[in-house]
Amino acid sequence: MTTEISVRERYANAAARAEAALCCPVDYDPQYLKVIPSEVIERDYGCGDPSRWVQAGETVLDLGSGTGKICFIASQVVGATGRVIGVDMTDEMLEVARRNAPLVAGRIGYGNVEFRKGRIQDLALNLELLDERLRREPLAGANAWLEAEHLADQLRREQPLVADNSVDVVVSNCVLNLVDPVSKEKLFQEIFRVLRLGGRAVISDIVSDEPVPEAMQRDPELWSGCISGALTETEFLAAFEKAGFYGIELVKRDARPWRTVKGFEFRSITVRAFKGKQGACLERNQGVIYKGPFKEVLDDDGHRLRRGVRTAVCDKTFSLYANAPYRDHFEVVEPLTPVPLEKAKPFDCHRPARRAPSETKGQGYRATTDASQCCDSGVSR
Ligand SMILES: C[S@@+](CC[C@H](N)C(=O)[O-])C[C@H]1O[C@@H](n2cnc3c(N)ncnc32)[C@H](O)[C@@H]1O
Repeated sequence: MTTEISVRERYANAAARAEAALCCPVDYDPQYLKVIPSEVIERDYGCGDPSRWVQAGETVLDLGSGTGKICFIASQVVGATGRVIGVDMTDEMLEVARRNAPLVAGRIGYGNVEFRKGRIQDLALNLELLDERLRREPLAGANAWLEAEHLADQLRREQPLVADNSVDVVVSNCVLNLVDPVSKEKLFQEIFRVLRLGGRAVISDIVSDEPVPEAMQRDPELWSGCISGALTETEFLAAFEKAGFYGIELVKRDARPWRTVKGFEFRSITVRAFKGKQGACLERNQGVIYKGPFKEVLDDDGHRLRRGVRTAVCDKTFSLYANAPYRDHFEVVEPLTPVPLEKAKPFDCHRPARRAPSETKGQGYRATTDASQCCDSGVSR
């Protein structure tokens, strides 16, 4: 039996009756649980709470939404102006989630959640549309498999389950570990594809402290139990980096393992990562000063920043540092005379790292001023 089939079977059963072995205790914000039916809460197979990093008005995509708990929490956080999409591959999970969605909507006064059927490593393919087409035009004979592949490609292109650049935040709670190893890289690429520029992923998952031995990986019970498919914590963060994310951060890490199997520790972590370092590098005479506390830092684009040094950056990097997750670590220095974006030239990556004050102020700057009002107890004259 393939990993995916054993995962689907286990979660089909876990949708019908709560399975205690799959539950990892999580402190969800109780104010959001009041409106969620007990059938959903009892089938909580999460290991963290990525909804804590979601904001009002956002479009949220939950990967492996199960019976819908994180979607129903996020629905209240994003409010009536936001949207939430849950994706799951297991019919029984989708049935519980879809049946409960109108109940939650009735209690909060608006409906902004929908559940779609798909595999999270292939977020373009709408499995219900494929199913419908195959029922209408059954395929038979030796070429059936190739024809079905062709149809799936057409659906991915023409009616994607989740379109490119369409989501503000991708969240997931205890699911990425369940995806088989050959599809894990594609999974991170898919998360990146559906996020808009400036969007972010916030993923709670189980990771291991050491690589999981192959014998343990072959155990379908351990795999579907969110154990042996776990990446190591180093691999998990590196996977975001490889997919093109920046500002990748371990925002939560349980010191205590959820489970230990044959000496291998499996614990819950939550990682946040941003999309948006791609694009043109333009020179607008801007600088940044890394405030510390480290002597120097290296960002995901390879920029090395020394503490206290006024460093030249392109317009794109300047904007990244002026926003989360970097803004508390930098002072940003605008030039005295702004360079309009339409007049900006390409940034010279081989120029000296330091941005001399004469570049910021302009060569001809000779001003003399009175003392500023800093000795003035804050009272302006
Ligand atoms: C451990 S449960 C977590 C459910 C939910 N996130 C929660 O917090 O309760 C894993 C869920 O992911 C779904 N799932 C596993 N692998 C999947 C895949 N490759 N594509 C889509 N859904 C998947 C399962 O059907 C199940 O509903």
